[in-house]
Amino acid sequence: MDDNETLRTIKNRRAIRDYDTSRDVPDELVYKVIEAGGYAPSAENQQPWRIIVIRDKKLQEFIGQIAVNRTIELFGRATPRQEIERRLSYIQSKASLERTIDILISGERFEYIKGKPETNGAPVLLVLAVDQTHVGNSQPTLRGTGGVYGWSSPRHAIIAGAMMLQNMALAATSLGLGSCVSSVQLDHFDDVRAISEKLGIPHPHWVPILCLTLGYAKYERTLGPPRQPPEEVAFVNKWGSQFKGAKR
Ligand SMILES: Cc1cc2nc3c(=O)[nH]c(=O)nc-3n(C[C@H](O)[C@H](O)[C@H](O)COP(=O)(O)O)c2cc1C
Repeated sequence: MDDNETLRTIKNRRAIRDYDTSRDVPDELVYKVIEAGGYAPSAENQQPWRIIVIRDKKLQEFIGQIAVNRTIELFGRATPRQEIERRLSYIQSKASLERTIDILISGERFEYIKGKPETNGAPVLLVLAVDQTHVGNSQPTLRGTGGVYGWSSPRHAIIAGAMMLQNMALAATSLGLGSCVSSVQLDHFDDVRAISEKLGIPHPHWVPILCLTLGYAKYERTLGPPRQPPEEVAFVNKWGSQFKGAKR
């Protein structure tokens, strides 16, 4: 069976880190992307998300520099080169592998977040914040109690936020835009605090968890890193019992 348009959009979405800086993204398209995001499911339809649309170059630079610094820390210092090579072993050409490692350990790979033309930056940066007090239960007396009583529902806000962001990424693809999810600038709590303060996010009630850059891709990118097929990731009835659904 051939893929339909939705399946093609899902499979064609790629992390775009080089943007055509001669083309801006009109607010009309940004609006459509955010609107599509809002159609994501959320527990009790509470929609525990907010998006900050950033076009200000200074703010992009501020957030992008945090991403670059943390990348240098993570990949340039903390991760052994052998481990980086193992993770990137799907890259066949030695020259491409070397280049990918170089831009990773120097942080150059995440310069695109700064939105600068010299580094093919993205014209638009979306920051997604979620409501940490959202526990999938709208009764005020139960809000915020999830963690205390052992319920896993405090995860709901993050789950819903991630679904919202994926909707936005897919909507962007369907509109001919490139996008890239990024979290490295929000992986450390010091950075979450710094970015919240800079953007006026009422932290810790609202927590920024992910970013999405938007722009037109500079280079066509259809092939992404390889995916594990269903036979490798799905089980039938019990963990370990392989799902062998026939590919049709
Ligand atoms: C939670 C999460 C965090 C990510 N963090 C970053 C990031 O900090 N910087 C970045 O450039 N890409 C980031 N990515 C994008 C992934 O690297 C990318 O989606 C993955 O390698 C698969 O490639 P593809 O999207 O082209 O298929 C992140 C994706 C997710 C879902």
